[in-house]
Amino acid sequence: MDLKGRHFLKLLDYTPEEILYLVDVAADLKEKKKKGVPVDVLRGKNIALIFEKTSTRTRCAFEVAAHDLGMGTTYLDPVASQIGKKESIADTARVLGRMFEGIEYRGFGQDIVEEIAKYAGVPVWNGLTNEFHPTQMLADLLTIKEHFGRLSGIRLTYLGDARYNTGNSLMVVCAKMGMHFTACTNRKYYPDEALVKTCQEIAAKTGGSIHLTEDVNEGASGADVVCTDVWVSMGEPAEIWEERLRDLSPYQVNAKVMALADKGAVFMHCLPAFHDHNTGIGKEIGERYGMAELEVTDEVFESAQSLVFEEAENRMHTIKAVMLTTLGGVVEDT
Ligand code: CP
Ligand code: NVA
Repeated sequence: MDLKGRHFLKLLDYTPEEILYLVDVAADLKEKKKKGVPVDVLRGKNIALIFEKTSTRTRCAFEVAAHDLGMGTTYLDPVASQIGKKESIADTARVLGRMFEGIEYRGFGQDIVEEIAKYAGVPVWNGLTNEFHPTQMLADLLTIKEHFGRLSGIRLTYLGDARYNTGNSLMVVCAKMGMHFTACTNRKYYPDEALVKTCQEIAAKTGGSIHLTEDVNEGASGADVVCTDVWVSMGEPAEIWEERLRDLSPYQVNAKVMALADKGAVFMHCLPAFHDHNTGIGKEIGERYGMAELEVTDEVFESAQSLVFEEAENRMHTIKAVMLTTLGGVVEDT
């Protein structure tokens, strides 16, 4: 499998075999990291990390992974670069492509990361756009595979805002990997119809399925993996909270939802999560609307079924696999 020179913009661009290969390379890199085996095979290379939205996991994962691979990193924060303000996306991409061997972009429209990829001349990796969050998906797949020993046939139910990056991407990846995806939410938050259709066509070939429902009993029953995400994403206006709480509160992941799921079910969340009042926004919104927790209860978040921190760790190993393979690094036994 040769992914050298490829961009990593969305998983629709990758075959199931390529996705599985990336997950398996990540598992191998994880094992090497645990054993202290160095993999600094990309020594001398440098990458740029453009973040037009904030981040904890994605930025740290890219930086640690790059350093483990022997590479240097330059971080451009949401205000420090000229991108889009004094310099066009195309010009920025052409400048950075002359200095760096790879570019990560986190920001707004998918069209922006696609445009950077068109002009950069080096591999470009999507670190989250409004539409997709592909590196998160590899971490989720690795976590599911580690836990269940397989991907094919796994029933994954996503509750909450299913028409944004995480919901869209989970639907795509389930279709690709022969998994059964259910979006369980208010129909206002169903994923885009065209994307649903595309995913149904993919699922028809892989043995997976795509199902949308507003009924929590139907959506959560028998799920192996229960997933959610924040109800208001980065870049959305604060005024939207009231409407979101009204629409999405019935889809909170709580003990009742987990009881409907399979008895061996796990809980996953890309994080950050509002599961208590220990965050500025969680406290403010929680107090204003009288909610102790938002998209997931603290009980579920802290339960033995919760894999959220394994999932967060796996961001680093999977991002390392993406950079290693697309930059053409060779590691023995992968
Ligand atoms: N899950 C995720 O992308 O987290 P960050 O926003 O902290 O990068
Ligand atoms: N949907 C969330 C994901 C955060 C990792 C957001 O875009 O803010």
